[in-house]
Order: sequence, then C-alpha cells, then structure tokens
Amino acid sequence: RVLILDFGSQYTQLIGRRVREMGVYCEIHDPEMGDEAIREFGASAVILSGGPASVTEQDTARAPKIVFELDVPVLGICYGMQTMSAQLGGRVESSDHQEFGYARVRVTGKSRLLEGIEDHMESGGIPSLDVWMSHGDRVAELPEGFEVVGSSDNAPYAVISDESRRFYGIQFHPEVTHTPQGGRILERFLHDIAGCAADWKPENIVESQIAQVREQVGDDHVLLGLSGGVDSSVVAALLHKAIGEQLTCVFVDTGLLRLGEGDQVMATFAEHMGVRVIRVDAEDRFLSALKGVEDPEEKRKIIGRTFIEVFDEEAGKIDNVKWLAQGTIYPDVIESAGSKTGKAQVIKSHHNVGGLPEHMKLKLIEPLRELFKDEVRRLGVELGLPHDMLFRHPFPGPGLGVRILGEVKKDYADILRKADAIFIEELWNHDLYNKTSQAFAVFLPVRSVGVMGDGRRYDWVIALRAVETIDFMTARWAHLPYDFLDHVSRRIINEVRGISRVTYDISGKPPATIEWE
Ligand code: XMP
Repeated sequence: RVLILDFGSQYTQLIGRRVREMGVYCEIHDPEMGDEAIREFGASAVILSGGPASVTEQDTARAPKIVFELDVPVLGICYGMQTMSAQLGGRVESSDHQEFGYARVRVTGKSRLLEGIEDHMESGGIPSLDVWMSHGDRVAELPEGFEVVGSSDNAPYAVISDESRRFYGIQFHPEVTHTPQGGRILERFLHDIAGCAADWKPENIVESQIAQVREQVGDDHVLLGLSGGVDSSVVAALLHKAIGEQLTCVFVDTGLLRLGEGDQVMATFAEHMGVRVIRVDAEDRFLSALKGVEDPEEKRKIIGRTFIEVFDEEAGKIDNVKWLAQGTIYPDVIESAGSKTGKAQVIKSHHNVGGLPEHMKLKLIEPLRELFKDEVRRLGVELGLPHDMLFRHPFPGPGLGVRILGEVKKDYADILRKADAIFIEELWNHDLYNKTSQAFAVFLPVRSVGVMGDGRRYDWVIALRAVETIDFMTARWAHLPYDFLDHVSRRIINEVRGISRVTYDISGKPPATIEWE
C-alpha cells in the first residue's frame, strides 16, 4: 500500500492512477489526515504530491513529521520535494526563473532511483532525461544527508536523494506522459526501492466486495438508481452477483435519453442478467415540468429535482429497503474531500442519478469508492457487462435536456435522438468513436431555408459536436475528416424529417463548454 499525500496539484489523481496501473494499491489523502491514521494506514511508501502553494510562505501545508519517521521510502514530487527539503533542514527559494513545460535534467550524481534510466547520453557520458516541469520555487540548499542527483537549467537541485533513509525528491512530474521515463522512475521507486509487489488488480476487489456486501446487508433489501452509465451499471452487476434478488434497481426513463437507451438497459440487466429493474416511464412528467422553460440553469434544476421526486416515489413503494447503493467512484471521493478546490465557480450545476431519499433513512453502500474510472471499466468487463456500455462516451445527467437549446419539446427530442444515433453509428463505422472522447448532436431551435427536390423547406438545424480531451476540463474539437462529416450530414438530412441543415462545432473549451448548455 502506498500513501499519497495531496498538496493540491492538478496531477495528484494521475499519480494515483499511475501507481495503481503498476499493480500497487494506493490511496490519496489530505496531509492533515492525522498521525494515528497515517500509522494505521501501514504504508510501504509515501509519495508527497505537487501543489500550487509556496513553501516560502509561513502557513502553507507541510508533510506530517511522522512521514519521515516511518522508516519507509518517501518520494517528494515538486512541492512535495520542496516541503520535504525545507522540513528536513534545507532551504527553498522563490526563483525569478520559472520553469513550465519541457526541460532537460542532466544526471550527474548516483542514485538507485535513476540508475540506468535515461533519454539521452550527453558528451562526457552524462545521461539526461526529458522531463515536464511546472514550478516557480526551487530548492536552494540541500538538507543534511541529501545529495544532488540531477540538475536542469533552472533547478540546480532537480533530483535529490538520501539513499540511506530512502528519501527522494524530484522537481519534475514523473506522472505525466510528457516525462517519457516517468513511468520507469515510479516503477523503480515502487517495486525496487519500496519493494511493493505488483499484485493489485481492480478485479481483486470483486470477491472481497461481494463478501463485504453480503455481511453488511444480511437479509435486507438494497435499492439502486440505475442510469445505464458505467458506474451504476457496474454496481448493479456487482450487487446482483452478491445478493441477487435482494437488489432492486430503479431506472427512470426521463424521455431525455438517447435512441433506444431505455430498451437497452432493460435488455442488458432485466432480460439478460435477471436483475430486478423497475422501469419508470416519466417522459410526460419531465416534459411538463420543463414546459415553457428556456433558461439552462433552470432546466438543469428542474430535471434534477424531478428526478429525485420520481425516484423517491418509486423507492417508497418497495418494502423492506434499508440500503441505497451508489456508484460513487474514487475521483468523486477525492474531489468532495478536497478542501483545496472548493472555491471554484459553479459554471453548471451538475446532477447525477441516485438522489438519496431522505425520509427513508437509508444506509449507503458504495462498492466502487476505491476505484478509478478505468478500474471500474475493468471490473465491468470481469462481471460480463457489454463492452459498448462500459466504453461509451460520458452522457450528462440532464441528458438531451441540455442538448436541446431553450425549451424542451418531445418533437425536438425525437429529432435529436435520430440525428445523434446516425452520428454515433457512423463514428463506430469509421473507427472514429474511440478516437473522440465525447461526440453528440445538438438541436438548435432555429429554422433555416432549404430546397429539397423542387420544394422549399424551412426546417430546424442540427449541430454536431465532437471533442478530444483527457480530463474534460479543457478540450479541443475533433478534427474529423471532411468526407466523414459530409457523409453524416447527408444521412441526417436525408433520414431525419425536420432537419435541412447540419453544422459542425469548431470551438474549443475554454471558452465553449463541451455541452451547449
Ligand atoms: P461541460 O459542458 O461543462 O461538460 O464542458 C464537461 C463534462 O461534464 C458532462 N456534464 C455533466 N455530467 N451531469 C453529469 O453527470 C451534468 O449535469 C453534466 N453537465 C455536463 C459533459 O457531458 C462533459 O462530459
């Protein structure tokens, strides 16, 4: 087990994912988790993450002292290295020369961490590494016991180590793909230096989770809001395996889902797997709640609220329910615990399936709490869920409600569903689906003139949106081939009545968000 202490870097989750990919279980915690919790964690190694603050300021976060007394290897990355240096007797200074982006580190000293790892061999037989840097401060004096291992132009102490205590500091980010040898460096630290075996697999938790769920719930019944998305689907499959008939899923068809989606969910879970699923056809209810409403935030709130009402009503009809299962995954846990980013401005109020019916006083089961998204997918494969369901692009909670601009109407939703299905089908046919991170059609409630045969048409407009992104925080529009776009546009105009014009969205995020509303 590896303990990662999070100083607020945007890459901390990435460190966690890399460590797990290397087969080593890890958890990300707040540096203020407390000495007792740290001791109980039983880490074989500790990683101190980067962070946006400056060690040169008095009241910024520090690593708990106990970390350096556990007699386990410690790796400080960026801020983590700086605070380690300062705490162990070195000195950190703010530098005029900030380093952002690529840099070269020349490895002049010896350390187990980097031995035999290099990108280039420079004159004089000095190995060097291409690395990704992002720092203003730098270590200016080493703490006692440390030696310099590598330097860059702006960081004389870019890699430092105290081999006897197994403390290592690196100024660059080994967790990002821009540092080509980063993976090998982390592996060296985890496997060779810390002696962590590569034996963690997300599949490992299936058996233990099944046993745990059985013990927890006994003969009680469990309720799950199933959306057809990856997380709730995997929870459904896992719980079905654990407690079979004691699980009841409620699937709310909002009328704002994609073409055939409701039937697919029923086919997969109810028919194929034998899971008990109650399908609630709530289209009319959602549409009437949305009638006349144009404002995007207002629409989001109405959809979220109506969802909870419908879900609550259904849940209330089931006897003997004591537990509510949720598809909470590890990034949700880290984010909601994250004290650091709580001040971000609300751009869109997100909602997800599975509101907690308060009056029912349900206890929570969250079997995926420890897993990253890619691990949840692997688990889904293991549990026999269809590949397409697990590797589908994300779909927002409010569904087509935020892809029909302005007022939502059934006619619009029906048109949009057809256009969207054509776009997605063609992406699959042309082997482009997996090359985009998210793709969909948007309904624009404006009419434009067209000619079809000899007639004049005055029809609606569809916009296509496809983006490439890693984290969905920033995105670039996908440069889909012209021939492909041409083909999709023709199919939509020929096959979907009510559409005579198709456009392609070429805006990046920022400033244009991925969804149009
Ligand atoms: P934006 O539009 O903010 O979206 O660039 C970023 C990602 O979040 C998804 N999204 C949502 N997901 N509930 C969700 O579960 C929501 O209310 C919601 N709104 C946006 C969006 O599809 C994209 O993947």
